Amino acid sequence: VPVAVLGATGTVGQRFVALLADHPSFELVRLCASERTAGKPYGEVVRWALAEPLPARAARLVVEAPEPGSAPEPLVLSALDAAVAGPLETAFAEAGALVVTNASAHRMDPDVPLVVPEVNPEHLELVAERPAGRGAILANPNCSAIGLALALAPIERAYGLDRAHVATLQALSGAGLPGVPALAIADNVIPFIRGEEEKLEREPRKILGRLAGERIEEHPLVVSAQCTRVGISDGHTALVSFATRRSATREGLHDALASFRGEPQERRLPSAPARPIVVHEAEDAPQPRLHRELERGMAVSVGRLRPCPLLGWKMVVLSHNTLRGAAGGALLVAELAHARGLVR
Ligand SMILES: NC(=O)c1ccc[n+]([C@@H]2O[C@H](COP(=O)([O-])OP(=O)(O)OC[C@H]3O[C@@H](n4cnc5c(N)ncnc54)[C@H](OP(=O)(O)O)[C@@H]3O)[C@@H](O)[C@H]2O)c1
Repeated sequence: VPVAVLGATGTVGQRFVALLADHPSFELVRLCASERTAGKPYGEVVRWALAEPLPARAARLVVEAPEPGSAPEPLVLSALDAAVAGPLETAFAEAGALVVTNASAHRMDPDVPLVVPEVNPEHLELVAERPAGRGAILANPNCSAIGLALALAPIERAYGLDRAHVATLQALSGAGLPGVPALAIADNVIPFIRGEEEKLEREPRKILGRLAGERIEEHPLVVSAQCTRVGISDGHTALVSFATRRSATREGLHDALASFRGEPQERRLPSAPARPIVVHEAEDAPQPRLHRELERGMAVSVGRLRPCPLLGWKMVVLSHNTLRGAAGGALLVAELAHARGLVR
């Protein structure tokens, strides 16, 4: 399947380029960024920030402005800046592409599935019936919301969920490029990330929601979120307390989390982690530096599962924000859509 990447020069776009280099079903054929960079070979304009080398084929592709034309690639992966993503992604979808986006612009649109492939693959049904020649948009949730929703989903299935409180410690790569100035973050914690708490309070309700005909009925879960930026390169940590509807045991919660699997594992999708959730027993785990790369950055780590005097239970959740939380997660959504015959 020929694939275009929008926002290819950014933090998430670079991850897409790296992940697509040897992909078994998808072939990267077009890279788009802003007018500032368009017209030159990718290798000349990108400030490559990953440890792995820039793939040679991608380096030779000439960067284009993101215009769909009359026949866009059937699959478009978007890592566009949030400020410009909305109308550009709509244009690609209207021209026939299946767009999988990391940007927040369309996440809460009623006709856009907000998908964590292990949790709510059935939401893809929203775009299954569409007229010939018409594309659609699939949204990858917010980077912290993905880790939170993955960790809450097995608990919801086993015991039902009522309320949750989450405090995050979010990595610098989550702010994109050029990002947070070094002087602002060194020796510091910044207790505000614009728009983030609203996303974390809202998106899990849609992800855990029920497909009812042509719409998603949101889950009634109430989430209270506080988000901070910390001096970590990659890996968002979330300190989560939660109340279940039915009484839970530690063993039951542990087993529900550790045994959780979904459609990506059943279908053995190329980016699917064997274990979507890794449960840690060590008293000081998970830690970003030690655990963010588990399962190629696609596993969510859960540790310190213990009673909470306020809500019943608490745990620490860690996920790699640019892999599971962005490019890796979106690629898994694209692989699931492809496996279900939605890429046309
Ligand atoms: N970083 C994360 O962990 C993370 C996680 C989840 C979701 N997201 C979301 O994913 C998206 C990308 O994030 P990022 O961190 O990768 O951002 P970024 O590093 O700032 O990259 C933004 C990309 O958008 C392009 N762009 C900017 N203005 C444009 C315009 N007017 N027309 C066309 N292209 C334009 C940039 O191209 P130029 O280089 O030419 O300027 C660049 O390729 C955002 O919507 C963000 O909210 C990010």
